[in-house]
Amino acid sequence: MSFFFHQRPSWQLPESQITSESAYFNRRRFIKTLVGAGIAASATSLVGCQKTQAQNSELQSTYLNLPKFDPLRTNPNFASTERPITDQILASSYNNFYEFGGNKSIWQAAQNLPTEDWKVEVTGLVKNPRTYDLDTIKKEFSIEERIYRFRCVEAWSMVLPWVGFPMKALMEAVEPTSEAKFVSFTSFYDPEITTGPGFHLGSLPWPYTEGLTIKEMANELAFFAIGIYGRELPKQHGAPLRMVIPWKYGFKGAKSIVKIEFLKEQPATYWNTIAPNEYGFHANVNPNVPHPRWSQATEKFISEGPDLTWERKETFLYNGYQEYVGSLYG
Ligand code: MTE
Repeated sequence: MSFFFHQRPSWQLPESQITSESAYFNRRRFIKTLVGAGIAASATSLVGCQKTQAQNSELQSTYLNLPKFDPLRTNPNFASTERPITDQILASSYNNFYEFGGNKSIWQAAQNLPTEDWKVEVTGLVKNPRTYDLDTIKKEFSIEERIYRFRCVEAWSMVLPWVGFPMKALMEAVEPTSEAKFVSFTSFYDPEITTGPGFHLGSLPWPYTEGLTIKEMANELAFFAIGIYGRELPKQHGAPLRMVIPWKYGFKGAKSIVKIEFLKEQPATYWNTIAPNEYGFHANVNPNVPHPRWSQATEKFISEGPDLTWERKETFLYNGYQEYVGSLYG
């Protein structure tokens, strides 16, 4: 089954509304260049999930080659949700990672991400600035599994078993000063390697950046993932380290982080810079606040695989995490 049903169920959004960021790219910035370059067709449609048997086995073997976390403790507070965990093949072949392309099928292109000798610089208003590599992260932080709901602003959702550590553990290590009120997170970017459409136009605010308030970062739910489904992160999910903020729309979870900076002022962020009326800085999941171009009241829950199927489900305030984060916004 392809991502686009041949017979659309009545609730299915028009294609242009599903792919919010892609649509934005195409309509406002890229269309002329893309047409010129002959790549508009792939960028305008959310193609993606119809995979051959060979691609499914390639995905499976890429995943099985990744180092496993063993033993791995699942945090009992986040051991399940009311919905089943999304199939691993589906989750790792239906991604947003614009550095590697403007549609969901970037998993092969993302294999070009160079993750060896990765360094994450933690800097700014902190008492102990540090540069971490992945081994140090694994040694210094207590790594656990957490099963979280994941809600994209494009109105699709999954349930994903992340492996990593709470952001507040990193804050305890670097000790932000009392002046620090915001945190900015920067993704890997190298125009020689990140090959998504339009990357060389210079008109978009690369690198991809995201931001949180310091209180949001200190919340128990805010998480750095270094793995998923019990193994190290596949590159398409943002290896080797990415943000997971389960009460916010998925675009707040910047991938492949190279820099974390503690700041006095609210930082500029990628989508908020491109379209502030569509992608707010806070971007908390809220069924009562529609996106300017579509409703956020429900979502397409993607669970079973390896071919794409979905069910229409209710969207919860703060993605169902109100008891953890409601007080942040009271
Ligand atoms: N991080 C970077 N660097 N680049 C991106 O394009 N896309 C965001 C977020 N983080 C993105 C990113 C969006 S829109 C979503 S929905 C999630 O990553 C998707 O994460 P997944 O592909 O692991 O499901």
